[in-house]
Amino acid sequence: MVQNPKSDHTLLQLVRLVMALVSLTVVLISLAGLGYWAIDTGVYAQWLAEGEEPDEVEATPQIVDGIDTMSGLIAEGEYEIVRAACTACHSGKLVTQNRATAEGWTQMIRWMQETQELWDLGEQEAVIVDYLATYYAPEAQGRRAPLNVEEWYVLED
Ligand code: HEC
Repeated sequence: MVQNPKSDHTLLQLVRLVMALVSLTVVLISLAGLGYWAIDTGVYAQWLAEGEEPDEVEATPQIVDGIDTMSGLIAEGEYEIVRAACTACHSGKLVTQNRATAEGWTQMIRWMQETQELWDLGEQEAVIVDYLATYYAPEAQGRRAPLNVEEWYVLED
């Protein structure tokens, strides 16, 4: 048999080239597959969203024009305690549309405790009542809109 080192060498190079191409193809297919998987399963979208930090935006209560947007409460004083205690069962609107003295607010709390299963507010009660009586105090007499009586009715005796 005649040795032909040159053709041997060429064959070896050819084999190497083919192997390199096969490896490259495998790598490319894997990358494409990974990319497709990431997009298909939402991993890519999640990864994109992580850069935007949406959680922080959601968790940060916002104050617009002095009003806490989560509850509608005036964002002054201990409003966060009031928000935690007073918007657990109903909207903050129920609170903000009312006005009363400290006594009046305490009565509303008692009423909810007796009839609506509001829990004992403990030390927070004083803080809450103080906040409510300060920021949701009865309107000054002169500023109250005149009573609009559509129809008088006769009291029965
Ligand atoms: C355990 C649940 C619960 C919690 C906590 C709660 N409330 Fe209420 N509250 C109610 C229910 C139930 C009503 C009646 C809702 C309705 O009539 O639609 C109510 C009604 C009200 C009303 C309307 C009363 C009226 O005369 O119409 C006000 C004002 C009020 N709540 C304020 C508060 C304040 C202030 C707090 C925080 C101290 C609070 N609530 C916490 C259950 C709760």
